[in-house]
Amino acid sequence: MKVFVLNGPNLGRLGKREPSVYGSTTYEDLAALCVKAGVELGIEVDVRQTDSEAEMVGWLHEASDNGYPVVLNAAAWTHYSIAVRDAAAQLTAPLLEVHISNVHKREEFRRHSVLSDIATGVIVGLGVDGYPLALKWLADNAAG
Ligand code: DQA
Repeated sequence: MKVFVLNGPNLGRLGKREPSVYGSTTYEDLAALCVKAGVELGIEVDVRQTDSEAEMVGWLHEASDNGYPVVLNAAAWTHYSIAVRDAAAQLTAPLLEVHISNVHKREEFRRHSVLSDIATGVIVGLGVDGYPLALKWLADNAAG
């Protein structure tokens, strides 16, 4: 099974970006963590990050066309992008929404996600550990 782990804007700056909120793990560390989890779980993990909404929409179309499950941290797009939602809604395999921080403990505008009601499940506030947890769930529940 192949899984896409897709990350939205500013997540390439993990480690440097507001470490009190997002921790000191860099994006490269996060990508390596996901690939390692994939090896341990016996699934192929393709980790990507973009600051371009068009690129993210294209990757979601690619996942949809290939029937891949997606672990998605859409970052700020989570809160307002109907384009990302519409692309994610086309997925036929499970969609797991992940956020590093607990968005419900932060600003009011972060409490609403345009993705959660079309996601299979949501993991928030567990730091980067949310990603391998999402991959474990997919390995157990979305085999194929
Ligand atoms: C985030 C939370 C979002 O509100 C924010 O815009 C991000 C990261 C998280 O992983 O905690 O960029 O998705």
